[in-house]
Amino acid sequence: MKFVAIAHPNIAFIKYWGNRDDKLRLPANGSISMNLGALATRTSVTFDPQLDEDVFILNGIQQTGDSLVRVSRFLDIVRELANSPLFAKIESINDFPTGAGIASSASAFAALAMAASSALGFDLDEGALSRLARRGSGSACRSIPSGYTEWQIGASDLDSYAITLADPDHWALTDCIAVIHSGEKEAGSSEGHRIAATSPIQAARVADAPRRLDDCRQAILTKDFERLAPVIEQDSNLLHAVMMTSNPALHYWRGGTVEVMNAVRTWRKQGIPCAFTIDAGPNVHVICPTADATRLESRLREIPGVESVLVSGVGGGAALLSD
Ligand code: DP6
Repeated sequence: MKFVAIAHPNIAFIKYWGNRDDKLRLPANGSISMNLGALATRTSVTFDPQLDEDVFILNGIQQTGDSLVRVSRFLDIVRELANSPLFAKIESINDFPTGAGIASSASAFAALAMAASSALGFDLDEGALSRLARRGSGSACRSIPSGYTEWQIGASDLDSYAITLADPDHWALTDCIAVIHSGEKEAGSSEGHRIAATSPIQAARVADAPRRLDDCRQAILTKDFERLAPVIEQDSNLLHAVMMTSNPALHYWRGGTVEVMNAVRTWRKQGIPCAFTIDAGPNVHVICPTADATRLESRLREIPGVESVLVSGVGGGAALLSD
C-alpha cells in the first residue's frame, strides 16, 4: 500500500552545526527554526515484495549513487525497527530548488520518516517521528512539529528531538528568500558537520549557544522583533565564521549574498524591521514581520545578483496525506 506524507523545509534562526555523534546525528548544540509553509516536499512510499532494491525517484528522475544510498540507509533503520526485509519505491517532489541552501534534506527526511514508518505499520508519536527524521538529516527533526520549533540537544538518542515552541499563528513572520544561485551546492552539510570541530571558533560558538537559544526563544515567545534580529544575524555570522575557518574551509557566499546582507543592515537602520540568516549555501533568508514582506520582496528583486525571491510564512508540521 502507498503512504503519502508532506513536510515543509525550515529556516534555522539558531543553527545546528557539528555533531557529538555523527552516526546518530546528536548535535553539538540545540537549534531553533521556523517551518516554511509555502514550500513543501511530498513523498510517497510503497514497500513491495517484488522489488530487489530500493527505487528512489526525486522530482521525476530516478536516483543512483549517494542520493539513493542515503535514502536506503535511512530505510534500513525503519526496516530494522519493523523487522521487515521489504524494499520500497519512494517518489518525492520538491516544489522549490533542491540543494541550494533551502534545506531540502529537512523536508525530505521529515516526509520520508512519516510515510515510511506508516507504510511499515507504525503509528509514531511526534517525538518518536522527530527522532527518526533526525537520523536521516539533523534539521529534519525540526520539520516534524508545527510552527516555530526547537531541537532540544538531548543527552542521548532518546531525548534529542524537536518540539513546538509556538504555533504558526502565534506570530506572523515571513521569510523572503533571495535566491542568489539555485544550482546544487559544492559541499554538503553532512561533510560540514564532520569538520566543524577543526575550526578554532566552533568551541566558542557551541559554548555560547545556550545564551543565543534563550535570547531567540524569548524573542519568539514575546514576539519581539528588535530582540530577534541581532541574535539571528549573530548566529548566522558565527556559523559562517566556523565554516570559513574549518579545514578544509567552506565558502558559500557569492557577491550577491554580501550585497543582500549589506542592504538588510541599511534597511534596518532606516527603520524597516528585517534580519538576514544564511544556511550552507549562497541564498539569503530575509526574515521580517509579514506586514513588511511585500516591500522587502520588491526591494530584494532590484539587487543585482538576486535571481529570484521566494516568499513564505510560518508553516505547520509534517502530515500524512492518505494511504
Ligand atoms: C546550516 O540537517 O542539512 O542548515 O544532518 O548532515 O543532513 P545533515 O545536515 P543538515 O544541516 C543543516 C545545517 C544548516 C543549519 C540548520 O538548519 O540548523
